[in-house]
Amino acid sequence: MTTLGIIGAGHIGSQVARVAVANGYDVVIANSRGPETLADLVAELGPKATAATAAEAADAGDVVVVTVPLGKIDRLPVEQLAGKIVLDTNNYYFERDGHIEALDKGETTTSELLQRELPTSRIAKAFNHILAADITTDGAPAGTPDRRALATAGGDAEAVEFVTRFYDEAGFDTVNIGPLSESWRVERDRPAYVVRQNAAELEANLAIANRVP
Ligand SMILES: NC(=O)c1ccc[n+]([C@@H]2O[C@H](COP(=O)([O-])OP(=O)(O)OC[C@H]3O[C@@H](n4cnc5c(N)ncnc54)[C@H](OP(=O)(O)O)[C@@H]3O)[C@@H](O)[C@H]2O)c1
Repeated sequence: MTTLGIIGAGHIGSQVARVAVANGYDVVIANSRGPETLADLVAELGPKATAATAAEAADAGDVVVVTVPLGKIDRLPVEQLAGKIVLDTNNYYFERDGHIEALDKGETTTSELLQRELPTSRIAKAFNHILAADITTDGAPAGTPDRRALATAGGDAEAVEFVTRFYDEAGFDTVNIGPLSESWRVERDRPAYVVRQNAAELEANLAIANRVP
């Protein structure tokens, strides 16, 4: 059985943990303050979930979700994440993260910034353009008319394949944008950001996105 490491146990990390456990994954989840502060969450998640440090979660995960504020991505366990599939939920909020010139100018993407921190990890974008609460409430079985779709991006075929399978298990169709360098199309303030859309609508919204919003 696949173990999902989750670094970040806030709005998104806890929701991804819930869908993972519901779909049979083992979960090892971490925050910045320490495993003892996650007792309530792991109690809710049940026996398939444990709390750990970020390094332990990275080490334990066959696949690891990084879901911390963008301003904190320079504090990740780089060594334990080396060579692993890493799902990147990050978004850029200058109000929270401080201004990052290359993002303001549309010269890079949040996922490429994470790739720079984790040079050998196999990164794919995931769950960045859905409100956390919707992750456990808006999914539907494959084939449901008007099923909600979510985007991924990444240069590693296995990483993109994992996201596609995980989205499907969580109840969402997938639209693959292409390489991480194209993931700006689903970043904040673009038409596809945090709106409910099916696969055709998502593809259309990605196509009309402007590089600098
Ligand atoms: N909220 C949403 O609806 C939403 C939707 C899509 C994408 N996103 C994006 O996803 C990311 C996470 O968002 P969120 O809303 O889940 O944030 P959040 O609720 O503020 O949670 C952030 C989590 O990251 C942990 N953390 C921070 N630095 C860490 C470190 N160095 N090592 C381990 N854990 C660390 C925090 O732990 P402590 O509490 O112990 O500090 C906390 O558990 C952000 O980039 C956000 O923009 C959010």
